[in-house]
Amino acid sequence: MTIEAIMRRAPVIPVLIIEDVAHAVPLGRALVAGGLSVLEVTLRTPVAAQCIERMAGEIEGAVVGAGTVLDAATRVAVADMGGRFCVSPGLIAGERAEGAIPLLPGVATATELMAGLAAGYTHFKLFPANVVGGAAALKAFASPFAQARFCPTGGVSAENAGDYLALPNVLCVGGSWVAPAEAIRAGDWDRITALARAACALRAG
Ligand code: 3PG
Repeated sequence: MTIEAIMRRAPVIPVLIIEDVAHAVPLGRALVAGGLSVLEVTLRTPVAAQCIERMAGEIEGAVVGAGTVLDAATRVAVADMGGRFCVSPGLIAGERAEGAIPLLPGVATATELMAGLAAGYTHFKLFPANVVGGAAALKAFASPFAQARFCPTGGVSAENAGDYLALPNVLCVGGSWVAPAEAIRAGDWDRITALARAACALRAG
């Protein structure tokens, strides 16, 4: 699956921080039930790799990938876990777009975008979106970088996601708001499905 197809699959990619492997599959199923079928499991907890393996194997209809991928070796490791894409907060030095699985690198400036384009990428995460100019920055990037497509992430919420999704160079947004830590801890999967459903309805036009 190309990164373009993954980014077009749902308007929001949930950014997941999972502390307990027992939460992984019910959390993923709750999000898929609400219409969010692309799941980014951040590699920030000791159980993240196990979560990706389980979610990739057990959740029908989900496209499971890894976030917080900081080096090239981890991209290969995520593919071995059954992950289908990687997201990084920045450009990984020396790493090109082609690889075991698609990689969505983070950029914050025009210079980083140019480095990414030179490395073969056309799809980027804008990070941290709300800090580095938000929707106004993406509007400004549209003319000089007509080929670039974005997933703004970092400070995106139910309140501002619609502003991003209305932009022609934005295919989806990323955010943790659809899977709040306290809802995960409490096993409140119905609340997470409701948040996912509301997020799905944000797609502009
Ligand atoms: C992250 O890396 O944690 C993501 O950018 C999510 O950011 P958010 O918590 O502001 O949605």
